[in-house]
Amino acid sequence: MQISEKLYLPCGAIIKNRFLKSAMTEGLASSNAAANERHANLYEAWAKGGSGISVTGNVQVDHRYIERAGNVVIEGDQSNEQLAGLANWSAKGTQNDTHLWMQISHAGRQTPFTINKSSVAPSAKQLEKLLGVLKFGKPKELTHTEILDIIERFIHAAEIAKQTGFTGVQLHSAHGYLLSEFLSPDINQRTDEWGGSIQNRSRLLITIIEGIRAKVGSDFPISIKLNSSDFQKGGFTHEESIEVSKLLNETSLDLLEISGGTYEQFAALDLQSLSPDKSRTITPSRSTVAREAYFLKYADEIKKNINMPLAVTGGFRTTQGMNEALNSKACDVIGLGRPLCTEPNIVNELLTESKSSATLYENMLQFGPGVFGLNSPINFIKANNKASYVYWCYRQILRLADKKEVKPNMNLLGAAMSHMMGDAKASKIYRNYWKDLD
Ligand SMILES: Cc1cc2nc3c(=O)[nH]c(=O)nc-3n(C[C@H](O)[C@H](O)[C@H](O)COP(=O)(O)O)c2cc1C
Repeated sequence: MQISEKLYLPCGAIIKNRFLKSAMTEGLASSNAAANERHANLYEAWAKGGSGISVTGNVQVDHRYIERAGNVVIEGDQSNEQLAGLANWSAKGTQNDTHLWMQISHAGRQTPFTINKSSVAPSAKQLEKLLGVLKFGKPKELTHTEILDIIERFIHAAEIAKQTGFTGVQLHSAHGYLLSEFLSPDINQRTDEWGGSIQNRSRLLITIIEGIRAKVGSDFPISIKLNSSDFQKGGFTHEESIEVSKLLNETSLDLLEISGGTYEQFAALDLQSLSPDKSRTITPSRSTVAREAYFLKYADEIKKNINMPLAVTGGFRTTQGMNEALNSKACDVIGLGRPLCTEPNIVNELLTESKSSATLYENMLQFGPGVFGLNSPINFIKANNKASYVYWCYRQILRLADKKEVKPNMNLLGAAMSHMMGDAKASKIYRNYWKDLD
């Protein structure tokens, strides 16, 4: 099996190759949280870049609980302007026979404090301050009625996605946002039908899939991004991830994308660097391809228990690693994130063999050893190369959205500072716009 092979999804959709541009939050919406021309520009570049599937950054179902200012929100009746923004985005993003799937999410307790001082979660368990800087609101435990409302919000967003020309949806049930919070025994301490056993903790996710399927019909792709593990003591384990995958296998899901980690444990971006004292449940495999694609070993164990196609995202950079992963049958699809921020055409280049690897910016963008835990922005940035690299990607995304050349030599510290200042300002404007925020 090779990266250029077509993929046939259970719903009947055909994907032109084995690449999935994984979800990356764009931060492009203004305070009205509507899609605009910049979304269309960005996804046009990525559609031309060659991935069979392009997944949008997380689109939120509730303006009160978003991941960051600049998210698109779909809730309630959409104005003609909102619908036109989404339709323009999908028209540009589906060029070149690209599947454009909307990632739908609710930030849950990972709603930044700068957006809302309070949040909601399965149980009232607060996320600690991260690295002494990033603060999150105190969550309120969701009531049964509020959970039913969230289910309807996800279904509504998926219907709007289909109506406006997106060719599929993905539910974000990874990285510590609300749907994955329900799966975690640490964050979900409920004793009703939404908590307790793994069946109960999966109920929200599965009810949403079934609700969406009933509305969008049998031929519309539905995907889920799931953690292979939270990599946290007391959190969602790899064994539980396999159990949830088996439950998902009984639904009409079309593609399972595997990732890992939460805000408390940033595994999604580099599993290998997790400190050993964080109670990893499994030691990552040391084979070459597994070192490149750090969730492959976990995906392989999940894949053995399911029939639907499986994507793995995190670390893939070389065609050798990608083809090895596909040939090993541990996965069917290669997810790519960060490389596409500076090399939007990299999939075409890998497919035509004009390149054999994406550039390894992660090895180049380093501040040197970090000083964790000090309570100052500069030390936070120095301490957290991974977060800064994400902020650097955010700045490259803005350039692509404005049809500017990317800047591979962009200064890491400068990018991180610009992002943090811009984010603080955008969050304030957002709060002022949505006056009902706490
Ligand atoms: C700038 C940026 C934004 C991201 N936003 C999202 C997101 O909105 N939803 C999501 O599921 N993952 C998000 N991720 C995680 C990526 O989808 C992907 O899992 C991660 O970058 C690892 O893949 P990579 O090694 O190919 O970059 C984001 C990552 C980056 C770098």
